[in-house]
Amino acid sequence: MKPVIGHVDAKSLWLRVSSVWLGVLLLTACTGEVNGVQEPRTSSSDHSVQTGRTLIADYGCGSCHSIPGIPGADAKAAPPLEQFYQRTYIAGQLPNTLDNLVLWIQNPQEVEPGTAMPNLGVTQIEARAMAAYLYHQPTLTELLSQ
Ligand code: HEC
Repeated sequence: MKPVIGHVDAKSLWLRVSSVWLGVLLLTACTGEVNGVQEPRTSSSDHSVQTGRTLIADYGCGSCHSIPGIPGADAKAAPPLEQFYQRTYIAGQLPNTLDNLVLWIQNPQEVEPGTAMPNLGVTQIEARAMAAYLYHQPTLTELLSQ
């Protein structure tokens, strides 16, 4: 029995390692335009992206959402916000444009009365920075610092 158990362990370890690498490859491969999907709009060296990252952490968006690159943002109460530039709709309602994303972050209750996402008192400048973060492609360093 021993060699069989050993074999199974090695196999599942291999599966785990290879799926991690597949994940890394998928994350790094998504920089071009595929099937008409938009490219990430800003680079992570952009100042507003960094500000947005800090604001998203400070406002606790990660207490409901899982957001790549934001430390501790791994909640499952709300839709995950990864690769947001690829979404067609925001909350299934609004076309995914910068202005609409800013509107949603500031005032989800106006867009969709009664939604489980509360108005958090985010200013327009703050919402624009958060949108810049959500529209950028997280770097590997950001992902590893979660
Ligand atoms: C109390 C939980 C909660 C908090 C806190 C919260 N959200 Fe949400 N959020 C939700 C829920 C629930 C939805 C889904 C709403 C719907 O689709 O009707 C949502 C939807 C969204 C969407 C659209 C997602 C999609 O798949 O289209 C974005 C973008 C978003 N939230 C950003 C934020 C940001 C940025 C913050 C912090 C400022 C934040 N949320 C804080 C609960 C929350």
